[in-house]
Amino acid sequence: MAGHIGWWGLGVLILLGAGTARAAETPHLNPSGFTSSQVCGTCHQDIFAMWKGSKHARAFENPIFAAAYRDLQREGGDARRLCLRCHAPIAGITGDLEAQQIITREGVTCDFCHSVAGVAIRDTDSPFVVEVGGPKRGPKVGASSAAHAIQPSILHKSSRLCGGCHEFRNPEGLTTISTFSEWRASSYPAELRACQDCHFLPVNGRSTVQTGNPVGSRIPDHRLQRSQEQLRDAVKLDVPQVIREADRAVVRVAIRNTGSGHAVPTGHPSRRLLLKVEVRSAGSGSILGEATRTYQKQLLDGSGRVLVRDAELMRARNVSDNRIAPHEVRTETFTFSIPPGEAVRVHAEVEYLYRSPILARQEWRVLVSRQETTVPGH
Ligand code: HEC
Ligand code: HEC
Ligand code: HEC
Ligand code: HEC
Ligand code: HEC
Repeated sequence: MAGHIGWWGLGVLILLGAGTARAAETPHLNPSGFTSSQVCGTCHQDIFAMWKGSKHARAFENPIFAAAYRDLQREGGDARRLCLRCHAPIAGITGDLEAQQIITREGVTCDFCHSVAGVAIRDTDSPFVVEVGGPKRGPKVGASSAAHAIQPSILHKSSRLCGGCHEFRNPEGLTTISTFSEWRASSYPAELRACQDCHFLPVNGRSTVQTGNPVGSRIPDHRLQRSQEQLRDAVKLDVPQVIREADRAVVRVAIRNTGSGHAVPTGHPSRRLLLKVEVRSAGSGSILGEATRTYQKQLLDGSGRVLVRDAELMRARNVSDNRIAPHEVRTETFTFSIPPGEAVRVHAEVEYLYRSPILARQEWRVLVSRQETTVPGH
């Protein structure tokens, strides 16, 4: 265990006792440890409600993670060390490794994010510098509160805050989640578009109950919604181009990643894009040919076998990856045999699929784009 102490203790500045003087002004907040989101929520009600429904709030308790976590524990892996630092990040700091306390089970909780003072992305074991019980850090300059000290923080407008968790290298040295590095390799950093500019967009709401209800008041959306609209804006499909030859049709389609700040799909390798092309007789409607192509990241073991169980991802040694990079246009060509002289209709569509190998019934399927074109016979 000794070699593992590193990330539990490293980079953490615990301001024990620093709260004594401030205690009178901050009756609800824990001056020497983390404060539960419930307490933050008494004042920051709208943000609390959004966060509560987010994947961050359920990072520890959601059944998909819980199943994978148990799976890994059963196999004798050191699941606590491997998983909690992102799924229940305060555990390693407070030492509640069995997640006995409610606040640990709050997953990626308010006080964790708003106590982060620095991120060293390259330190994959312990990227965060956290100032426990210190001021609450946020992007606004000039904000003040009697409830707690506030520290203006540009880090909270930066992708680095997210990169501490949205980039994961497994014990074999393979990067299994690479959202941050996909973003960094794109043109978005130069365009000054950080994760927050797409995932924490301003929505109507009040920052705190104390600030009253000014007209048009906006707060950053803490829900992390996976919305169909966002997907449809992000991935575009062009109308198929068809080159008609005597007894075949050569179909060309292009998929563009126009609005995703990283590869699409990104994140955990349980998502894929599916392109389907279908050629039908324009007259009878009967199917003359079909083809599909899948875009995904797959993790492989040392002998090239595809790993599907979440707990196995820790052992992955290799990756096969044909996802679509930010701003990339991917062109595919398919050839279909068709009866000479017959007019045909070519239909292409892209779907986004998300499935957990553990809870297979929870498939999420979105039709992202659909295009059709008709080609006359000669
Ligand atoms: C994953 C990290 C994360 C978590 C968890 C999180 N926040 Fe935030 N919060 C942010 C970021 C990033 C911003 C700044 C977004 C921006 O302005 O682009 C922010 C902004 C804020 C602001 C400033 C609002 C304003 O008016 O501009 C407040 C207040 C806040 N969060 C409170 C909370 C509370 C309360 C919770 C829990 C219920 C919470 N946050 C959970 C990252 C987080
Ligand atoms: C007693 C009420 C109260 C409680 C409890 C409270 N806050 Fe605040 N908080 C405020 C007020 C008031 C402001 C100033 C708001 C403003 O000026 O927009 C503020 C500001 C903030 C800001 C700065 C926002 C910015 O834009 O930079 C952050 C971050 C924040 N709070 C996080 C938290 C977190 C995390 C907790 C729980 C650990 C918490 N707050 C608990 C009242 C509270
Ligand atoms: C302490 C670690 C941590 C930090 C910091 C963090 N995240 Fe997350 N995030 C997670 C985890 C873990 C999940 C997955 C939870 C689950 O599904 O079990 C997640 C989920 C998400 C999702 C939803 C994914 C989905 O499948 O729907 C989005 C979007 C997201 N985070 C964006 C952000 C952004 C943007 C930031 C920076 C402002 C950020 N996160 C900071 C750990 C973190
Ligand atoms: C230009 C806008 C944009 C930026 C910048 C951006 N994202 Fe995204 N993100 C999207 C879109 C659109 C999707 C849905 C399509 C996809 O999976 O790529 C998405 C999906 C995700 C998902 C998967 C959740 C889901 O809904 O399935 C995570 C996690 C995520 N983003 C995290 C991040 C992080 C972390 C950063 C910064 C390093 C970031 N994003 C930067 C637009 C953006
Ligand atoms: C470096 C941070 C990090 C570590 C360490 C980590 N995860 Fe995650 N995990 C994430 C993020 C971020 C996501 C969400 C990614 C996304 O949605 O794109 C996630 C998503 C997941 C999901 C998918 C959840 C869903 O809702 O679909 C499972 C399952 C999971 N992790 C299991 C584990 C297990 C088990 C461990 C320990 C062996 C672990 N993770 C360690 C960051 C991490």
